[in-house]
Amino acid sequence: MKVNKNKYIVAVDGPAGSGKSSVCRRVAIEMGAKYIDSGAIYRAITWYFMDKHGDDLLTENIIDQLNNVNIEQIFEKNGDIKTLLNNKDVSKAIREEKIAEKISFFSDNMEIRDYVTSLLRKWSKENFIIMDGRDIGTVVFPNADLKVYLDASVDVRTERRVKEYAELGKKVDENSIRNQIIKRDFNDENREFGPLKKSNDSVYLDTSNMSFNDVIEKIIELIKSNK
Ligand code: DC
Repeated sequence: MKVNKNKYIVAVDGPAGSGKSSVCRRVAIEMGAKYIDSGAIYRAITWYFMDKHGDDLLTENIIDQLNNVNIEQIFEKNGDIKTLLNNKDVSKAIREEKIAEKISFFSDNMEIRDYVTSLLRKWSKENFIIMDGRDIGTVVFPNADLKVYLDASVDVRTERRVKEYAELGKKVDENSIRNQIIKRDFNDENREFGPLKKSNDSVYLDTSNMSFNDVIEKIIELIKSNK
């Protein structure tokens, strides 16, 4: 939502593994914007409940419990992003596979989505914001100044994820990563509240055959021609 004339919001949505986070971080650094990673909030909430209750997924008093939680995100000058939950740095813990396995239970919940949406809007005080997620251009900032939908084929996204794990020294089974991506696409596209969908006013970028730098350049060009 535009708050004043100088405010500029870029909403970047797209499926898991489409490169949103790396792309947004780099664009934010190059353009001097603040990057906000909305997925990390859903991850932090999942981490909190799993840490507290193990695998007993809660359905009651979720919001009351969230009142005891303080989530913060720090976008550092070098492009790193830190997520803090009650002052504890959970940035690494929220990237574990067990979080991704359980996250849809929380990200499908309407009360949690409303809570996260308010938080995201509250965090967007700076004039120049780049935020990525699944429903940023549709629900969180339907009046964003620029909306980008980043996509890539399942094969390319699988390849990227396997490479990311390899860089972390983790050897993973390619087929299980592919299946996880297909399952997350299904969850993201079919959730009742805030599903992943391309809005008519977003710029669609299929990055399957684009280099990382090409994607950055394209988005910077879009911002410059639109700002
Ligand atoms: O972007 P990510 O993979 O870190 O997101 C983690 C999960 O959070 C993903 O499974 C979908 C969910 N999510 C969401 O429902 N809405 C958003 N705006 C961002 C993420």
